[in-house]
Amino acid sequence: MASIISIHSFRGGTGKSNIAANLAYVLAQRGRRVGIIDTDVQSPGVHAIFGLRGDSFSRALNDYLLGRAPISEAVYPLGDGSRTGHEYLAGLPLFLIPSSIHASEIAQVLHEGYDVGLLNDGFYTLIDALALDVLIIDTHPGLNEETLMSIAVSDSLCVILRPDEQDYQGTAVTVDIARKLDVPGMVLVANKVPSRVSKDELSAQLEKEFTVPVAGVLYLSEDVAENGSRHVFSAVYPNHAFTRTIEALADRLTGKT
Ligand SMILES: Nc1ncnc2c1ncn2[C@@H]1O[C@H](COP(=O)(O)OP(=O)(O)O)[C@@H](O)[C@H]1O
Ligand SMILES: [Mg+2]
Repeated sequence: MASIISIHSFRGGTGKSNIAANLAYVLAQRGRRVGIIDTDVQSPGVHAIFGLRGDSFSRALNDYLLGRAPISEAVYPLGDGSRTGHEYLAGLPLFLIPSSIHASEIAQVLHEGYDVGLLNDGFYTLIDALALDVLIIDTHPGLNEETLMSIAVSDSLCVILRPDEQDYQGTAVTVDIARKLDVPGMVLVANKVPSRVSKDELSAQLEKEFTVPVAGVLYLSEDVAENGSRHVFSAVYPNHAFTRTIEALADRLTGKT
């Protein structure tokens, strides 16, 4: 059975899209059939990490949500090597469903709204049609109806937070709601952690505060910052501590450990 993994954070800029993309890449490299869907309609971005520009795709999740196309038309097989220019993606069983980066398309979805049930149906259609092992959902920050639905249908929820009081307070809200929605596997991932902070001490502190297991501590990295969402970092730096932590997270979220 396919598993649905939501990557969420209460605030923006925490690293959701980069973590989602790297996780997707690592799992696809292991031979899993992976879908990654950008449900951050207001501020989409995960396509960029896979080397796509806004004009490199003519269909997006927006078309499906607005009733203009079946969701299958918004699927980009990243492994076919034709469009991305990222050679390391060639041959991978990795499928992206991007959100449109065009202002008019974003505005239209925000203005007209959409039925979240449609998004939910879309997830299952994708799992079936692409015979996915894993569907990774890159969510919009904060809590809205589609985020709650995505969380509710997930087998695992990965809540990303920075060591920042604003993130802590927001994460408490998210964790509380996810508990009420009975998400089976909820984990925390701390990102952008300053190098002088001890991984073990931070994990212990977060686990005590939120009573949720910490599945990874990712340090604030000049290398990741310099990459600037232009590449899948794990593909370019396979031996980096960031990559190792993503690999451990992949094990954890897919039940390998
Ligand atoms: N561990 C890290 N160290 C340094 N920069 C990071 C790290 N993780 C993410 N970033 C940077 O932070 C920015 C926001 O990341 P992104 O994945 O787009 O977050 P979100 O999707 O939550 O808004 C990007 O410029 C990314 O390169
Ligand atoms: Mg994002």
